[in-house]
Amino acid sequence: MIVAVDGPTASGKGTIAKAIAARFGLPHLDTGLLYRAVGHQVALRGLDPDDERDALSACDFPDAMLSDPELRSEATGGLASRVSVHHAVRQALLERQRSFATQPGGAVLDGRDIGTVIAPDAEVKLFVTASVDARARRRFEEMRQSGRDTTLADISADLERRDERDRNRTEAPLKPARDAIVLDTSVLGREEAIAEAIRIVETARHGR
Ligand code: DC
Repeated sequence: MIVAVDGPTASGKGTIAKAIAARFGLPHLDTGLLYRAVGHQVALRGLDPDDERDALSACDFPDAMLSDPELRSEATGGLASRVSVHHAVRQALLERQRSFATQPGGAVLDGRDIGTVIAPDAEVKLFVTASVDARARRRFEEMRQSGRDTTLADISADLERRDERDRNRTEAPLKPARDAIVLDTSVLGREEAIAEAIRIVETARHGR
């Protein structure tokens, strides 16, 4: 069983994808990390994230970079969003994601284009979303707890910039697949969102 989990920044898709993977004993890939690694490598090498050739040359990041805590920062998220608009970058990362998705036994992948491009035949497609306000508040709480100095207004502005770029790019824009089930987590707590997602996967699995 392939489970595709797509959605915007801070929608809860990562938490939900991990919980589904644990519940069904499936391996999980956070595909945003791949784009974040490219963004980070661009920064380390002093390259231009908006230049397709520069961004492509940063796709040879070492695997060890995927566990670098710097990948989780807001700055790296912004760079990831910028490098991800380039066709060559998306192509360079495609095979790795496809082979993860099609491994025997199945997998859970989360990202922006899993249900539309990476695994269009996935048995279950979830599109996890939430209002900008709900997402900004969650991100703000996370950052406050990790001691980072930021404001809710800055976080909201940053989220909206990223949403806008991810939704309006020409290649593999963020949008629900036609057969995706939309899960709005705006008014759900973490456990409620997970329970609802698992219920959706179970129903879809039995309906096969
Ligand atoms: O999910 P995330 O915040 O870690 O993703 C960071 C950026 O990477 C996101 O703004 C757009 C890009 N991305 C993408 O284009 N396609 C994916 N499947 C995953 C992420």
